[in-house]
Amino acid sequence: MKEKSAICFIEKNYMTVAQYEALQKETGINNFKSVERAIIDMRLRKSTIEIEKVKKAISITENALDEIIPFIKIGMTENEIKTKLETTLQDLGAEKVAFDTMVLTGENSGLPHGEPGDRQIQYGDFLLFDFGVFVDHYCSDITRTFAIGKISDEQRQIYDAVLKANEKAIEAVRLGDPIKNIDHAARTVIEDASYGAYFTHRTGHGLGLEVHEAPSIHGENKEKILGGLLFTIEPGIYKEGVGGVRIEDDVYVHPNGEVEVLTSFPKQLTIIDAK
Ligand code: GLY
Ligand code: MN
Ligand code: MN
Repeated sequence: MKEKSAICFIEKNYMTVAQYEALQKETGINNFKSVERAIIDMRLRKSTIEIEKVKKAISITENALDEIIPFIKIGMTENEIKTKLETTLQDLGAEKVAFDTMVLTGENSGLPHGEPGDRQIQYGDFLLFDFGVFVDHYCSDITRTFAIGKISDEQRQIYDAVLKANEKAIEAVRLGDPIKNIDHAARTVIEDASYGAYFTHRTGHGLGLEVHEAPSIHGENKEKILGGLLFTIEPGIYKEGVGGVRIEDDVYVHPNGEVEVLTSFPKQLTIIDAK
């Protein structure tokens, strides 16, 4: 049926050219508009039901991390630890991982977008986990960094700066304030510790049906912190040759402005003995 004046709203970022052509042929419509903005707005504020699903995903993620720590031994490779972690996630009821699980050791932890490989864990390493899972279509996203045995004074300074940045950024989450304040709070701590050049990414991102969605927690975002927002706070310092630390939490702003940190895995530096 030809509908000359009709407008068809589509998700241009998701529809394939083949689907678009078939739709055009079937409907006779030539006027296609993007519905993306409306969908982003609908997904921005999470309901209690959505948050319950995210909490389930977080609970599996944190329980898996708890379970695998005792299995970590000197000489294990990043890939071996990753395999063990993903098996545990599956056993605990995860439907699938939310993104490629990151298990990075030693100097590899200094790569913010590194991939696990055959590097074997050694004393003096940082061990960074960044991972999440989907449960009932909603995801989790958490990062924790551990020390393997004794670490250097500089590694300790880096850890302490990232932890403080994470905490200050969480304190900066206040209903009605601009989102950029959150990034600013984290970045100021890291700059004051003289590591500003090593914090090379935004402070966080929204999550929900996808692991990266609105809002973006960066220093130029003047949009207001609204009730219903769910986002990560994940400052990091990445120093070549030394390693890196990132500490990532998932934070929910309730409609009344109460700020709830949904992730609860301890953040104080934990030393894994790994014998
Ligand atoms: N590795 C995905 C993220 O933390 O954003
Ligand atoms: Mn992450
Ligand atoms: Mn993240």
